[in-house]
Amino acid sequence: MAVIYPRKFQNALSARDILKQVVSDRQLHLITLNRYRYNEQHSCKELTEVIEQLNGQPRELVQDLSHHVTDEARHSMWLTDLLVELGADIGKPPGVSYIDEFERLLDKDAYDPKRNLEDGIIAALVAINVTEKRGCEYFSAHIYALKQAPQTPENIKIRETIAKIFPEEAGHVRWGNRWLAQIADKSPEHRQKVKQAKQKYAAIEQAAFESGIDFTLGAELRRVANLVEVANTMALWERPRYLMERLPQTLLAPELQFTRIQAAQKAWQRDPQAFIEKFVPIFFQGIQSAENKSQKTTVKKEIN
Ligand SMILES: [Fe+2]
Ligand SMILES: [Fe+2]
Repeated sequence: MAVIYPRKFQNALSARDILKQVVSDRQLHLITLNRYRYNEQHSCKELTEVIEQLNGQPRELVQDLSHHVTDEARHSMWLTDLLVELGADIGKPPGVSYIDEFERLLDKDAYDPKRNLEDGIIAALVAINVTEKRGCEYFSAHIYALKQAPQTPENIKIRETIAKIFPEEAGHVRWGNRWLAQIADKSPEHRQKVKQAKQKYAAIEQAAFESGIDFTLGAELRRVANLVEVANTMALWERPRYLMERLPQTLLAPELQFTRIQAAQKAWQRDPQAFIEKFVPIFFQGIQSAENKSQKTTVKKEIN
């Protein structure tokens, strides 16, 4: 069975590169922890929704999911306690939310077990699995970055909290892999369905992940390019509806403008000199890579 791993941001920045920057800036570090908290808390809501949709069948999956909700609620509790102790914000984090964007890009029709129980289960398991993989990648990079950083009481406390969560997330990934392998083993058709779902949700996850950290100029174009990549994983007749429903918000994205302005203001206040030298070029690099990416997408479409 093919294993699809999360890609780097614009195929350039690794989780380790990003987390190294994050831990060196306290404000950014606390926002990142609050984003983890928000995602953990929100995943309880999503898992509960899947449990309700399954409505008691299959019993073993419903039981596993009920345990899974408890784990995610505990992760959120640990992070909330940590942030409260550090005097940090525990409200909705600023900017584009990874988990909200992931939900927006989900094709909820394919996700509904009422239409076809087995397809719904595959979609739900793959969607959970792909976000858990990203979580593992980030938690592992975060622990690594904190081991390299100054061993302040605050950094040690943060590392201890993430180190408690990480093995449980790795367990969730293994759990999802086991379920999906069992389904794929039923028949060649099942294997194909699981494979297709993995490709589709990996594209959705990548798009959500990039929009969560990409606020440089040209981000809208890259979001559209990512949206097209998601649509390319679907059947031909499903593509126009999927694209048309999501295109307006992808292009306008008010929260993207807000993040951009906020980030610019903060960088300016902190260090006007660095703002000109470092921050401004980021915007221009953004345009450059957006052009490259949309060219690549066009070429791919032509090949297809
Ligand atoms: Fe979690
Ligand atoms: Fe998890």
